[in-house]
Amino acid sequence: MKKLFIAAFFILTGLLANAQKRITEDNASEKISISKGLFKQGDDMTWAEPGMDDSSWDEIDVTKCWDQQGFPAYYNSYAWYRIHVKIPKSNTDQQNVIIVKIPKVDDVDECYMNGRLIGSSGSMPSSADGYATGVFAPERYYEAGIKETCIRLGEDNVIAIRAYNRGGSGGMCEDSVHVYFPPAVDGISLRLNDISTGQHHCNVEIVNKYATMTKGELEITLTDRETGAVVKSLSKKVTVKRGKPAVVPVYYDSDKMCNLTATYTDTKFGKVITETKQLKYILTPPDPAAPRFNGAPVFGVRPGSPVIYRFPVSGERPMKITCSDLPEGLDLTENDGVLSGRIVQAGNYTFTVTAENANGKATQEFTLKVGDDMIGQTPPMGWNSWNCWGLTISQEKVIASAQALIDKGLADHGYNYINIDDGWEADVRNPDGSIEANEKFPSMKGLIDWLHDRGLKFGIYSGPGETTCGGYLASLGYEKKDAEKYNEWGVDYLKYDWCSYENERHKNNDWGFSSCIRPYLLMQQFLRQQPRDIFYSLGPLGGTQVHLWGLYCDGNSWRTAPDIEDTWEAVYSVGFRLQEGKSQYSSVGHWNDPDMLVVGKVGWGRGELRETRLTPDEQYTHITLWTLLASNMLIGCDIAKMDDFTLNLLCNNEVNAINQDMLGKQADLVLKDGDIEVWSRPLADGSIAVGIFNVGEKDHLVDLKTYIPSESPAKAVRDVWRQKDLTPDELVCTIPLHGCRYLKVTF
Ligand code: GAL
Repeated sequence: MKKLFIAAFFILTGLLANAQKRITEDNASEKISISKGLFKQGDDMTWAEPGMDDSSWDEIDVTKCWDQQGFPAYYNSYAWYRIHVKIPKSNTDQQNVIIVKIPKVDDVDECYMNGRLIGSSGSMPSSADGYATGVFAPERYYEAGIKETCIRLGEDNVIAIRAYNRGGSGGMCEDSVHVYFPPAVDGISLRLNDISTGQHHCNVEIVNKYATMTKGELEITLTDRETGAVVKSLSKKVTVKRGKPAVVPVYYDSDKMCNLTATYTDTKFGKVITETKQLKYILTPPDPAAPRFNGAPVFGVRPGSPVIYRFPVSGERPMKITCSDLPEGLDLTENDGVLSGRIVQAGNYTFTVTAENANGKATQEFTLKVGDDMIGQTPPMGWNSWNCWGLTISQEKVIASAQALIDKGLADHGYNYINIDDGWEADVRNPDGSIEANEKFPSMKGLIDWLHDRGLKFGIYSGPGETTCGGYLASLGYEKKDAEKYNEWGVDYLKYDWCSYENERHKNNDWGFSSCIRPYLLMQQFLRQQPRDIFYSLGPLGGTQVHLWGLYCDGNSWRTAPDIEDTWEAVYSVGFRLQEGKSQYSSVGHWNDPDMLVVGKVGWGRGELRETRLTPDEQYTHITLWTLLASNMLIGCDIAKMDDFTLNLLCNNEVNAINQDMLGKQADLVLKDGDIEVWSRPLADGSIAVGIFNVGEKDHLVDLKTYIPSESPAKAVRDVWRQKDLTPDELVCTIPLHGCRYLKVTF
């Protein structure tokens, strides 16, 4: 009876929707809007089937989360929706697909049309990749092929949605479900694929995802952003078939700042699609062929701990790296400059290292500081798996990035930590309580030895609660065992993340700073008992303001912001707003950490890796700001897929030298003039580093000299990205929106 009533309701809703909600734009078909469905908590894959008997299911309003309708909140499990819908014959010429648009789902969903999976968001705990939240896409547009999903036009069809929730409210909310036929021209999209490896070019791709072949005209313009001049323009007739993009490559000079605009005009519908892209541009001069030392001339180690340090030296290989006054207890490999050994006696050990190749010779006077509070002399530089691989990290992927770190020259620029984030842990501990890696890491010890042999260091991830943020085993109650295991494996860095420790505070109703410090101090005591140095990085703690107490836990760095994303909004909030006034909490060996880098190909393990969504200007701003902030410089992309542009961002020795400056002073916001922000830090050689940022939404013509925060006349104003001193004329320039200029000023 209930079912009959609901079916009638849907038909009526559909009819009403037809009458009221005509979609006028773009020749789209009428939309059917559905706000009620059937609902059942539990999980059974046969519930996707169109013919199953759902007469006993409860009725639910899909526009509100289930807990707002009497179903239990904090029901941290699966539930299903079934929506019966009569899909009318379309009045358009597009009959091969329909769109099912479902509202936000808290927090993971799979959508089935007549029993066939047509889309999903996030990933279910039962899937091979494990649970990953889907909240990032507020609404979901799923496409169902008419033939493939056996849609019966004019008859009843079933959309089944499998939802999974973890924490708080659950299920669909905020809007109805919509079903409609897209117009043919909606299948056409433009993709601008900027390729900055080899001969730099941008592929303009016109893609047709629907069955109807379309024809149109493509116009392309390349404009120099600095002069406004049109560098190139072309126009072409194109035919676009399904599954076969039309591709037009446009070559450009990567030392110019250009915009590419592509416009497609569809012959039949007259619809115009335009995309503009800021093209990648390279500012960093190429490394010279002769040897050059690119690292700070210092490294710190505790007495008796193993030294693992790879001298970052660029220049052509083969190269010989030698030292004639190496302190006793140390060893230096000649071909790749790996320093190893131990020194038991505290003190400063200074020696001269020489690098020589067919093109020349360079030397560096280097000091190994041996002492109790000596690790982390400069912010750590390296790689972390999270922003690219999320929970899908594996030993194979780590090796690929580590090998690429060496092959692409990043190790020659000081990147030396290879850190895995969450997702490495086995489901259960060994009978003796020790932690184990899961099947994705067949040999943790083998992996770490492999890295150490190459002078690279290894970082691992855990937390003080029962589980990590990704739901894996964490260290609560096993801190000592875990620290011992890290030592046995050879771990050099621990990221210790808050996550489920919040439950312990709830349990004990204990909200003071001491409740934060206690678990972190406990782990640090056990780490300190190990006969090796483990850099201690403290995770983001919601509202607990770790920078205020990180030092009391003997932390080497602490997060000063929530998780970053590859958007301007995230960089602006995490990098600019949340770092204001925090320099006082940073000092040598104890760094503020506004999170990992989001340049290159990222993805957090959700589907395919993709190009960061930051524009090239925004990426320069990101790196400029992070180096000024004396932040940890942990690359978050797949290094194996890194292109020339990203390498140019990460391997500028003058830019990195500011991050690694031995004075260790984080920059402050020293001036705000409308959209322009000036951040500056003093450097060990008496000069200052100045970042002048345009955080507004339009370009600004500025005189850089008015933003140099010093009374004394400058002897030289150096553009550190371009690595050249600026003439007075060059100080007047345009800073594009979200862009910056990076200066080193000497007096
Ligand atoms: C978050 C942390 C991320 C990542 C993730 C792993 O809390 O901020 O950087 O480590 O946990 O689950």
